[in-house]
This record gives sequence, C-alpha cells and structure tokens, in this order.
Amino acid sequence: MLEGRAQKFSFDKEWKFILGDIKPPEIKTHGDSYANAKAGKAWGAAAPEFNDNDWRTLNIPHDWASESSFDSTENVSQGYRKRGIGWYRKAFKLDEADNGKHLELQFDGIATNATVWFNGTVVHRSWSGYTSSYIDITSMAKYGNDINTVAIRVDADVMEGWWYEGAGMYRHSWLVKRSPVHIKTDGVYANPVKISGTKWRIPVEVTVYNAAEQKEKVTVTSKLIDQSGKQIAAATGAIEIAELDDNIARYFISVDAPQLWTLNNPTMYQVVTTIKQQDKTLDEIVTPCGFRTIRFDVNTGFHLNDESVKLQGVCMHQDHAGVGVALPDALWEFRLTKLKELGVNAYRCSHNAPPKKLLQLCDSLGILVMDENRNFNVSPECMNQLEWLVRRDRNHPSVILWSVFNEEPMQGTKQGYEMVRRMSALVKSLDTTRPVTAAMNGGLFTKKNVSDAVDVVGFNYQIALYDKFRKENPTKILTSSEDISSFQIRGEYHTNRSKNIVDDYDTEAAPWGSTQRVGWEAIAERPWLAGSFIWTGFDYHGEPTPFTWPTNSSVFGLYDLCGFPKNAAFIKQAQWRKDIPVLHLVPHWNWPADSIGKKIHVMVSSNADEVELFLNKKSQGRQIVDKYQMNNWQVPFAPGELATVAYKNGKKLAPKQLKLLVKG
Ligand code: GAL
Repeated sequence: MLEGRAQKFSFDKEWKFILGDIKPPEIKTHGDSYANAKAGKAWGAAAPEFNDNDWRTLNIPHDWASESSFDSTENVSQGYRKRGIGWYRKAFKLDEADNGKHLELQFDGIATNATVWFNGTVVHRSWSGYTSSYIDITSMAKYGNDINTVAIRVDADVMEGWWYEGAGMYRHSWLVKRSPVHIKTDGVYANPVKISGTKWRIPVEVTVYNAAEQKEKVTVTSKLIDQSGKQIAAATGAIEIAELDDNIARYFISVDAPQLWTLNNPTMYQVVTTIKQQDKTLDEIVTPCGFRTIRFDVNTGFHLNDESVKLQGVCMHQDHAGVGVALPDALWEFRLTKLKELGVNAYRCSHNAPPKKLLQLCDSLGILVMDENRNFNVSPECMNQLEWLVRRDRNHPSVILWSVFNEEPMQGTKQGYEMVRRMSALVKSLDTTRPVTAAMNGGLFTKKNVSDAVDVVGFNYQIALYDKFRKENPTKILTSSEDISSFQIRGEYHTNRSKNIVDDYDTEAAPWGSTQRVGWEAIAERPWLAGSFIWTGFDYHGEPTPFTWPTNSSVFGLYDLCGFPKNAAFIKQAQWRKDIPVLHLVPHWNWPADSIGKKIHVMVSSNADEVELFLNKKSQGRQIVDKYQMNNWQVPFAPGELATVAYKNGKKLAPKQLKLLVKG
C-alpha cells in the first residue's frame, strides 16, 4: 500500500477560458453517433484533442460577469451584468510516481451549472453555484508524458438567487493525491461536546475509503493537539474496509478542562487523524476544532458557554467591489475584521453556503455563524447539497445554526412543514449539536407551518408580529434572522430620489424593514429574541432596491461595496460595542456659502453617557446619549469648526472634531 498523507495541490493556475458557448460539431452519421456515445469520446470543446490555443489563459478564482460592463438591458437583480455561458479547460501531466494513487479533483464553487469532463468523459454535473464538487478521476487518469484534460462548461444564465451571483470558477480548485486507502474528503467529524463540569468528549467519526483491489484493515488514531503543539489526548479504532467501499471508524477522545472557544479568545485545537497499516502511515488529516457549548433558551435567547450573548449579526452576500464573487482569501479576512470592529459577533451566510475560508476565519476571529442552505427542495440532488454543507462545516465551533431556507412562499403550508421536517431530519442524522432554523417572513400563524418543524424560529422583518407570535407560541425559541434593511449611501446628507440618492442619517428603510435605530431597539428590548441579523454588513452588487438603473448595487450595507464605513456603521458600533469608547459625528462641515444660516442635521453616535456639540467652540447643547436613536441637533450652518465631546461617568472622552476644509 502506498504510504504518506494526502497531498493537496492548488489547481487554480493556468486555466484556458473562453466566453460563449462552443457547440460540438453536428452528428449526422451512424458511425459518429456510435463513436460519440462512448466513454472518452466527447466531442467539441469537451474533447481532449480540442484546440484551445487561442483561448485566454487565466488563474482562478475568476468571475467573468464582473469583467463585463454594466448594461441597462441586463437583469437588475444580478447587477446589470451579462452572465451567459463560458468554457474552461486545463491540460496537465501526472508523474509516473502518481500511478497507483487515488486522485480527486475538487472545485469549491462554480457559478452556476457546471458540466465537467475528464479525458473526454462527463464525470460530474453540479447544479448549484454554491456546492463543492469532489470528483474521483483515478480510473481514467494518465501518467508520464500523456496529457490529462479537464473541460468545464459553465452555464451562468441560470439564476439561483435575486442578488449578484457572478459567473464561472469563482472559488478555488484542488488536485488531491492519496493512498488508495484514505480518509474521504470531509470524512472526519470531530466536534467536542461537554459531558459535565470540566469533562469533555470528542465523538470522532472517520470515514475511510478503500480503492485497493482487496479488502483492507487499518488502525485509525486521532490525537488532540493544543495551540503549543502539545498532545493532550488520543483515541484509536480499527476497521476493515471492503474493496471499493467505505467504512467509518468511531471512538471518543476524552478531555479534561480544555481552554474554551469564546468570542474574545477563540482558542482552537487540532484533531490529527492518522490511518495506518502496521507501521505504514496511509493518510493523515488535520481537523481544527473548538470547545464551546451553545444553547438557545426560550426566555433568554442564545448562550455561549452558558453566558448569555445577544446575537449582533449581519447578513452577507459574497461579492466585493472590483472582483465580483471571485474574492481572494485576504479579502474575506478584511471584510470580517471590518465587521468585528463594529461589534458584529454573528454572520449569516445569506442565502447560501460560504467558502470554507470564511468559516476558518470565523473560527479564528470569534464570530458565530448561521450557515445557510440555498435550495429549498427535498429532491435527492438538493438533499445531497444540504448533506454536503453539513458534512463540510460541522466541525467549526463558529457554526451555531443550520438554516434550511430563506423566505420560502411555502413556509406557511403543510407542504413547507413536511419539507423542512425532512431536511431537519437529514441535518440531525449528521449533527445533533446545532439547532435547525429557517428564515421566515410570513406564514407564521397558519395551523401547520414551518415554525413547527424547526428548533429555532427565524423571523425576517416581523417586527410588528414579534409579540403576537411570542404570546401565541410561548414554547418556541425565537431569533430574528433578518432585519433592519435601511437605505443609506456613504457621505450623502440630502436625499435626492431623482439622482438615486438617500441620505446617510438612517432616515429611510425598506417598507418591509426598519431603520438601524428602530430595528435594533425592538430586538435589544426583547430578551427572548436571540438576536439580530441586519440586512446587510456590506453593500453588494445587484438588488439596488429602492432604485434601478443606473444604480447597480444595493445600499443596505453598514459598509459600502469597497468596505468604507457609512454612518450606519458608526450607529451600529455605538449600539453594539461596550468595550471601547465610540464617538462619531456627521455630516462634514464644508457646506457652500449659500448654506450659511440654514439648519443642518447633525448626528452624534456614541456609547458614552452624555454628548455635547460645539460650533466654533460655542455649545449647541449637552444631551443624554440615546443608545438607540443616537443624538441629533439642527444647527444653523456657519463656517468654522464643529466638534463633539462625550462624557462617561462624568469624565470627558477625546473630542472628535470636524473642521472646515473647503470654503463655499
Ligand atoms: C429580504 C431577502 C433578502 C433581500 C432583502 C432586501 O426579504 O431575504 O435576500 O432581498 O429582503 O431588503
């Protein structure tokens, strides 16, 4: 048996790409029909021998929609960008030394429908832009000087959402080489559970696949390693795996008094799992994990390690200025760090599976995650998508909720209930440690509805119904899953609808939503609501509600498309952060000369006790901080200096000053 742990190589570099469909030559004769129907004999751009010399060479992540110009005739929800069809091809060689290894191609995400050929045979179809594809190419691979070819036809005309979804191979891809007997992809489940007191246990499940020509026996060992690299505990099992089959090794690692994973100190451990035959190591996988308890209480909301934590969450889509959905990993870190600065402690992956990188970052930054499934559908194909999501993500301490849908019209029906019952059962067969939720924006009061099938009921914008629902359903656990939806454009202080501009004072909200200030108060004042997931943390392409062309991105965010904070961000920071002083003043103070004497709306966002405003050193009044509404003045404009001072426990905090920069 081949020794050595799995080797995972980036497969991102040097793809050939062409925009547009390539139709295969028409098949008319019986001979051609016969030939075309055979393995390895795909035609046209899927054929290994197809000449792609004049295609563009690029590296992925790649989003061709974000490369195109905006076009008013394209779909508004997708950000007025043409999506269309494209092809990718990649030729590669494998060493003779790889002959005998198990080989797997992995595509983390392709938008949207992808058909994958390997050496002229269709090997995979992925009908969701958010699900990863793991493709075993071992039996058809060639070695030495022979060329292997991957061809992928991507149909991005298909939409799964009503937001910008991009187009193409927008997440990473990998080539994994392993021993024929190896741990399957996402094959380790090692999620610590608390027994009592300081005693913990990690129930470990390791799925081992055997591609060898006979049954094999292996010993499977998992060691728990702490942050300093020290082994804390270990456990072992032994299994036999039939030829071309898999089997699961199960055992427990017992742990006493581990360091907990908390929001401020998200300590991570590693479970290092090895499979061996006698002294030969056949595979080894590192699975990060964290020790924490989670609990949703019907009266007191969410608890992390038995401490009450109000969820200060954001919903997020996955695109960013300049790159569309093809985000480099560093940009994910930037986005999450920016959110954390505002006091965000929870992230909802609306409305689809995130990239793996995002969960790794949430683990290490201490951000809780509502992990969301895309397709509300119980067909085998879509249940496989849900299963993949849970298997991939169930080791992350950051993940606290599985969300099976967002705002489905069937939510108030028996049918919707039956569907969620099945989806929830599937989730529970894979992970019983986290509750299942669904984000509902209606259908809450019908006789049998989805709220009867979930563990935690998610409200999208039900502010007016929170209390009624709670009264009629005192045993149901509740969270807001989506709220706020204010319209704000960074740096704008006058709404001008004819120019598609709304001011940044948090004055307007979507008719179904509420402003930053009203929405948070409603949630903060109800201890039985686990928390808030505001729509959204960052602006995103598409869905430019309330506008249409030429506005091509949303205006819901705390940050704009590039990650610059709006006033919304400071309002949130003042409402959410307790650990640092927050003081922010808007607007700018460089109005034109004809504004002199005219009243200007001044807003101060602070978490202090009192704030005072000064114009040219003259006090405009001292106010007790309104922790929800913020503090507001109408100040007749005069050139000079506008300043605010905050007081906490009677002491002055550092003043913030805005000075006249431009004279009108
Ligand atoms: C919600 C929906 C989101 C987004 C938002 C805009 O109803 O879940 O995806 O469309 O409205 O306010």
